[in-house]
Amino acid sequence: MRWRLQTQRPSGSKRRIFQRTLALFGPYRYRITLLILIIAATAVLDLLPALLLKDIVDSAIPGTGDRGRIDQLFIVLLSAVIASALLNVLLGYTNQMIGQGVMVRLRSRLHEHLQRLPVRFFTQTRTGEILSRVSTDVNGVQNAVTGTFTDFLSNSITLIVAIGIMFSLEWRLAMVAVVLLPLWVYPTIKVGRLQGRLIREWHEETAEMSAHLEETLSVSGIMLVKTFGRQEHESDRFERSNRNLRALAIRQMMAGRWFNLATGLFGSLAPGAVYWFGGHAVIGGELSIGSVVAFAVLTQRVFQPFASIARINTTVLSSLALFERIFDYLDLPVEVDERPNAITLAHPRGAVRFEGVTFSYSAQTTPALRDVTLTIEPGQMAALVGPSGAGKTTATYLLQRFYDPQQGSVTLDGHDLRDLTLNTIAQAVGAVMQDTYLFHTTLAENIRYGRLDATEAEVRTAAAAAGLSDMIARLPEGMDTVVGERGYRLSGGEKQRVAIARAVLKDPPVLVLDEATASLDSRLEREIRESTARLARGRTTVVIAHRLSTVVAADVIFVFDHGELVEQGRHDELLSRGGLYASLYREQFLPDDDAPEDSPLEIAATGAGASGA
Ligand SMILES: Nc1ncnc2c1ncn2[C@@H]1O[C@H](COP(=O)(O)OP(=O)(O)OP(=O)(O)O)[C@@H](O)[C@H]1O
Ligand SMILES: [Mg+2]
Repeated sequence: MRWRLQTQRPSGSKRRIFQRTLALFGPYRYRITLLILIIAATAVLDLLPALLLKDIVDSAIPGTGDRGRIDQLFIVLLSAVIASALLNVLLGYTNQMIGQGVMVRLRSRLHEHLQRLPVRFFTQTRTGEILSRVSTDVNGVQNAVTGTFTDFLSNSITLIVAIGIMFSLEWRLAMVAVVLLPLWVYPTIKVGRLQGRLIREWHEETAEMSAHLEETLSVSGIMLVKTFGRQEHESDRFERSNRNLRALAIRQMMAGRWFNLATGLFGSLAPGAVYWFGGHAVIGGELSIGSVVAFAVLTQRVFQPFASIARINTTVLSSLALFERIFDYLDLPVEVDERPNAITLAHPRGAVRFEGVTFSYSAQTTPALRDVTLTIEPGQMAALVGPSGAGKTTATYLLQRFYDPQQGSVTLDGHDLRDLTLNTIAQAVGAVMQDTYLFHTTLAENIRYGRLDATEAEVRTAAAAAGLSDMIARLPEGMDTVVGERGYRLSGGEKQRVAIARAVLKDPPVLVLDEATASLDSRLEREIRESTARLARGRTTVVIAHRLSTVVAADVIFVFDHGELVEQGRHDELLSRGGLYASLYREQFLPDDDAPEDSPLEIAATGAGASGA
């Protein structure tokens, strides 16, 4: 299946899944005991009227006509019915408490686990599928739990008690019923299997549909669809899923209906048969009329539970299949995990070092980084340059510990990132990436994401430092303007400045910056350059450089090619060496950056200042 990672747990046996599922109910032991008691009580109470009927018909109605006894029996019958109805309310409540409790825990665990999963998982899985699993599947589990478990219990108890009563009334008649029951086993199992399969298919199709929707109905998705005029194509794809879902739902429903029809027919005919068979026995003087009446009622009540029990295997199997889908996610290896005694650095200086780092995204692909060794002193500005696909972005991912290298290590202040707490790394390294991600909320909230406890004033200062003041002043709602899905209501440059403001607020000792490749208008270009220069001051900065001003200002330039670090040094040194950097300089940096206002001097000044910090 698409979403699976290469590292898969050995396919667990049904039994292990069952045990793990049971373990989920551990905390609810007492509630479950209560539930069982309630179920037993209701099952017995529901069967009581049949016995009372026997008494009413046999001893109260005929001949002498004991009115007092009829009244008594009726009151008992009424009480049983009312008590059972009340218990049913309690049953529903307890049931929901357990089912919802398990679901809440499962959903939270899933969410927590998903957040710990490596970026790799998210690059390989469609968001819609993840969403489907967290919402639809977990809901399915809740249904399975509350439905399957209670039904099974109450049906078994009903069946056992009813058959017991039948035998105590008249064993020969009871034998007839008991012999007839197994005839149901085969069709029941068959239908159950079919339904189980259809339900699984339904869940898969739902995941498929939600993945498709998520992809095409997001802002970037819809833009792509519109650019290529693919509305009809997407409609067709959707239509197919939609129709499939309809077909599956109808088939599943009809399988149940046909089966219910048969059960219903049998259930209605059975009492007739009982009267016929029992009638003869009554005439023969072997049975009382009351027993026949009670029997007729009991037979009707036995088929439904029996059918469910016969199907329990398949119901349980399809519920387990749902649990399995969830356990599959819970079992995905975290990979990038925190060591037990991981170190916390209170105030990292920001010394970054790559030592013989080799990294590939997967076992099959060639390494994206090969034996890279580089050192960045605290406060330095380092520029990463190189042709497309050289591994620049990858290097910044490793620095943020999105992935761990297969060989070598990335260190911060001399500590391997793997020895530090995840929180230390998150606090120490900030990033402003090229495709800025914003949440669908206000500008202020998006900036505050950099430091959640920042005051209103601090958020404003950060926004100002990122050069957002003018824009905010122009907006009618100012800082409270909602930026829209992924920030699509802002321009590219504005978005990037929001990201810069976020980083300013976070104030990390190490900053990763991915410069925009697209040429911006020169005023905006200067504004962004100024705000990033301000941001870079006094901290270690790793810039994926696309602009001349940046490389000229950099304290050290690292030139990557095909995942290898091929050259390093300052702009002038590298230029005079006449290697890859020199040719990159001519191709990448020179033509775009000959505008007069692109004087590198101011940045050079800040860059030099930073290196001294
Ligand atoms: N998630 C991923 N899974 C597998 N391979 C990847 C992944 N991301 C990047 N790669 C591959 O790793 C190599 C390095 O990619 P990287 O993004 O680091 O290049 P880059 O130097 O940033 O290029 P650009 O200048 O175009 O942004 C490329 O060959 C790319 O195809
Ligand atoms: Mg890149």
